[in-house]
Formats: sequence, structure tokens, C-alpha cells
Amino acid sequence: MRVLVLGSGAREHALCLSLAADPSVTALVCAPGNAGTASVAEQRPVATTDPVAVTQLASDIGAELVIIGPEAPLVAGVADAVRAAGIACFGPSAAAARLEGSKAFAKDVMSAAGIPTAGSFVCQTPEEAAKALDVFGPPYVVKDDGLAAGKGVLVTVDREAALAHAAACGRVVIEEFLDGPEVSLFCVSDGTAVVPLLPAQDFKRIFDGDAGPNTGGMGAYAPLEWLPPGTVEQVMSSVAQPAIKELSRRGTPFVGLLYIGLAMTSAGPKVIEFNARFGDPETQVVLALLETPLAGLLYAAATGSLAEQPPLRWHEGAAVTVVIAAANYPGTPRLDDAIYGGDQPGVIHAGTRRDADGVLRSAGGRVLSATAAAATLADARSAAYRLVDSIELPGGQHRTDIAWKAVTGKVAIPAG
Ligand code: AMP
Ligand code: GLY
Repeated sequence: MRVLVLGSGAREHALCLSLAADPSVTALVCAPGNAGTASVAEQRPVATTDPVAVTQLASDIGAELVIIGPEAPLVAGVADAVRAAGIACFGPSAAAARLEGSKAFAKDVMSAAGIPTAGSFVCQTPEEAAKALDVFGPPYVVKDDGLAAGKGVLVTVDREAALAHAAACGRVVIEEFLDGPEVSLFCVSDGTAVVPLLPAQDFKRIFDGDAGPNTGGMGAYAPLEWLPPGTVEQVMSSVAQPAIKELSRRGTPFVGLLYIGLAMTSAGPKVIEFNARFGDPETQVVLALLETPLAGLLYAAATGSLAEQPPLRWHEGAAVTVVIAAANYPGTPRLDDAIYGGDQPGVIHAGTRRDADGVLRSAGGRVLSATAAAATLADARSAAYRLVDSIELPGGQHRTDIAWKAVTGKVAIPAG
């Protein structure tokens, strides 16, 4: 099978590594890719949000499966165009990708399908925002309605700051604060059937101890040993299946990766957000543990035959990834620093490029993702941090507490 992966982050590098290991993949192209994907896939430049350009590239290379990594092309209708050209595509239509593209739309789907989530109001004016903040009280949660690369959400006890964020965003969703540890559950869907991958946990804040602003994600681990037995089944029946059914009922079936971001509250799992694609950095740890060949699974989803697939197989053990970000991230990142140690196994590339002299350089906010799998979470964590220690990026930042609470048995679901 000839496969095209669209995107240029660590998620796409991890996807390419898994696809390259699948014997059914005969050709692998990544567009536009990064210095990491260049070592496993052919690189092609492309404007990722241009449906015509992506479809042209897919047909030029004879792609039999297109996998769309990031959300922006999905929201721009790239999957619609690829499918219209008769090429199997893993990634939802623009209509179904609104699940991620508009927080208000996601809330509407959840309410129609009876999916447990935080109470919320959509607000357009400072008066509406002020009223909504006071209904819920602190801590305040204010979300930009549109796409914001994980950075459009402000959680704060400062009412003035919450109002200022609402004013800066325009249309916002203001919601009830959900207490409890977060879980990312990825579900593969062909529009009707839906299959969960292993649950993972992501670390959204920039600094240790969950301090500082939100980022795209600073590290992750899987699986989650602290999760009560039956949680995944519960989320499948209370969230994943109703969401897929509701989108199908609306005539906009969701074909691709439904990313369910949950809070494990005292009242059970509640949805914090939906995304319409693989999460980054969770993908790095989930795929590190997946034994089932990836291309076949995603092709089955893209072609409506997921129900005929055998159950997924997983490697024993656990995986941890630690993101190394550029100086000043999540603000405007410093770029072009030389990176040493970036070509070792387990080092997944995000914002990287290779200059004319062959030197690896930083080219984005999140630069690398040091990933390791081992028999135990503690061992995977140690190995991931050893890898971090062997990498040099001037001004680079990383968290030192990824998976620490889980290793020490300190992840607690609030008591009911
Ligand atoms: P989102 O983009 O909706 O995933 O929000 C980014 C991050 O903000 C989440 O991963 C949470 O850490 C936090 N967050 C979002 N919504 C809530 C909420 N209702 N209660 C508590 N934290 C939230
Ligand atoms: N890790 C969070 C995201 O991909 O949105």
C-alpha cells in the first residue's frame, strides 16, 4: 500500500515510524514533514490546508491511503477533496471535524447525544461572559471557540483575567471547572464502528507541577494503571459511540481519529474536549505500544471495514515521552538553535530541520519528543529521561515530572 502522511510534527514522525514498520506499506511519503520524517519517508512540499494541492500530490504519488495528521487541513476540507478523488482517507470531513474546529459545535453534539461534559455557555459579549463566569464561580474556564493549537483555553481564579481573555477571543465557551485527572482516549472510527486505543495521559502546562500557561502538550505516558477497571468500556458507551452515532445521524459521519479528552471527576468521566485527529504527544506513546500493523487499521477505518478487523494487539509494558521545547515556548519560540543528539532511536522530531551543512536545527515551539518503552512505567520513564539528558538544545525546556505521579501511585480521582 502506498501511503501519504500529511503534517510535520512529532505525531507525524511517530505515525511514519509505525507505518514504515508495517510490511503492507510499500511506499511512504510525508508532506511537508520534518528532519525526522525525512529519515523514514520520502518528503514532498505541500500547502497542507490546500485541498486541491494535497489531492494533486496524493494522485501524483499514487497514494492508496492518505492520513491527515493536524486539524487545520481537516477543518479546511482536505479529507473531503481527497475522498472525492476516490482515494481512501483517514481523517474526517470538514463538517465532522467541526467537533474540534468549534467548541460550541462540540457542545451541541454532546448535548444532543447526552454525553457527560462540563456545563457551559457560548458568549459573544463582555456582559454575557461576566454573567456566565458568575454562574460557575472560580476557577474560571474560558475557551476560544475556534482552533488555537491547544493555547486558546484559560483556566484561572482571576476574574479580570478571565474577562480579558473572553474579550480578546470574541466568541468563547465559558464552562464549569472539571476537577480530576485528565485522560486522552483515542478512538479509531469508520463512521459507524469505533475502536479504542490505549488510554494515555498528557501534560498540558509548560512547567512542573502543572504550573504556567497551557501548551500543545509537554509529555505523555500510557497505559494508565490508575484508571478504574471498566473505564474505557464506560467511555466507549457513554461518549464515543453516542458521538459517532450523532454525527452519522446528522449525515456527517466521522471517519478518522476521535480524540476524547476527559476529566476523571467524582461523578465519573466527563468530556473536556474532542479533537478530530491523533493527539501530540500522546500518539508517540500509544503507537510505541501498538503491535497491530497501523496501515491496515487506518485503511480499514478509511474504507468502512473496521468491524471486520481482529481485536487490536498491544505490547506489554508502558511508554513515556518527554517533550523538549524551544526557549520562550509557548510564547514565540526561539528558532535555528543547533541540536545535538537528535538522531538517536526514540527521539521523535517535531519542529526540526536540517540545514545545508547537515546540522539539525530547531524550527518550531515543540522541537523533540524523547520516547521510550519498557516493561514497567518506572523503567520507561527513566529511559525517556536518560534520552532527554543525552540531547542538547540551547535554551531548551522540558518538564521533569512527566509520569512521576503515576509511577509513585499519586494520581487520585476525587472522591464522590
Ligand atoms: P482544551 O483545549 O479544551 O483541551 O483545554 C485545554 C486544557 O485546559 C485541558 O486539557 C485542561 O487541562 C484545561 N481545561 C479545559 N476545560 C476544562 C474544564 N472544564 N475544567 C478544568 N480544566 C479544563
Ligand atoms: N496533546 C493534546 C493535543 O494533541 O491536542
